[in-house]
Amino acid sequence: MKNVLVTGGAGFIGSNFIHYILGTRDDIQQVVNYDLLTYAGNLENLADIETDPRYTFVRGDIRDREGVKELFDEYDFDTVVHFAAESHVDRSILEPELFLTTNVVGTQTLLDAAKAHWKLAPEDKYSREYKPGVRYLQVSTDEVYGALGKTGMFTETTPLSPNSPYSASKAGADMVVRAYHETYGLPVNITRCSNNYGPCQFPEKLIPLMIHNALDDKSLPVYGDGMQVRDWLHVHDHCAAICAVLDKGRVGEVYNIGGNNERANLDIVRLILDALDKPESLIAHVQDRPGHDRRYAIDNGKITSELGWKPAYTFEQGMEETIKWYLDHPAWVEHVTSGAYRDYYKRMYRS
Ligand code: NAD
Ligand code: TYD
Repeated sequence: MKNVLVTGGAGFIGSNFIHYILGTRDDIQQVVNYDLLTYAGNLENLADIETDPRYTFVRGDIRDREGVKELFDEYDFDTVVHFAAESHVDRSILEPELFLTTNVVGTQTLLDAAKAHWKLAPEDKYSREYKPGVRYLQVSTDEVYGALGKTGMFTETTPLSPNSPYSASKAGADMVVRAYHETYGLPVNITRCSNNYGPCQFPEKLIPLMIHNALDDKSLPVYGDGMQVRDWLHVHDHCAAICAVLDKGRVGEVYNIGGNNERANLDIVRLILDALDKPESLIAHVQDRPGHDRRYAIDNGKITSELGWKPAYTFEQGMEETIKWYLDHPAWVEHVTSGAYRDYYKRMYRS
């Protein structure tokens, strides 16, 4: 991994990933962050590395075939880590088409550019030879597997059974990545991670939204009974897992990423209120999300045994640091929650 294209690098996980690889690895010569800067993309996340000679930002759309092709021609990447996506389930319920075009067609556009640029005989449809050492990594989600009942865990062979337009679009993208490997021999991996938390997460997702509202003494909108379960992982542990797959993962394989850390939403909300010394009376049970998945849980046996990755953070330590990060960055929160965010919040939580 020397010359890396990171798509969606101005978002939550992408910006943490860029910091992570620039801060921990000495093999990185160049990282290009290709991002459209939608409402979720924020260059403030990268302000401290703007002048790092190894880092370049290019504003662009993953659905723009010409733009993506030119990017590959100009920078000659050996690695693609594809984060760019529409990522919020609630928005996908309001605007499914945007999710399908960005997440599925955008992925296919990148795969085509990588194939054309890396394939040694691009005109030969039978050739499966690629430049040595190249790799395309699709950053996916455990949500493609659908919902679990009280027991069981997702393994890499669990059938895909997505329930929201978001998870359906991610599952569709995963299928296209798989097909490019099977049909064209493109060297790919797919990672499917559980819910992330940590610095720079946009306050539309559970943890930063609840921290933000609690700090403002606003009500905390818990969907339904609040007993839905997610398997939370600190974003730095996700970044380390992606590096483990890029370094040691077998070509064509899927790796689930999770930290065996299942929590009910209500327990998380209570933890945040307790940490901020705010009353439980702020909790407001609101109408449930349509098609709400009850429980996710990752079996991480493959990545831990095959690649030796394991999470470094405990949930308690990760949450303490995350809450502190939001307390220490009021200007960041103020910038991302002004304007369009207020309109979204009113539309989303009007009842
Ligand atoms: P995010 O919404 O914070 O960031 C997405 C980024 O993609 C933004 O910077 C946005 O500007 C950019 N983007 C959107 N459309 C684009 C387009 N057409 N062209 C170029 N850039 C575009 O998302 P995130 O939470 O950082 O998630 C990143 C990836 O990880 C996504 O693919 C998501 O499905 C996956 N994932 C997220 C989680 C999680 O808990 N957040 C868990 C597992 C997997
Ligand atoms: P979210 O952070 O949107 O992630 P995902 O839906 O991808 O898992 O939501 C996490 C959980 O929190 C999910 O069960 C929905 C719930 N939730 C609420 O109860 N209230 C909220 O305002 C939000 C945003 C989420």
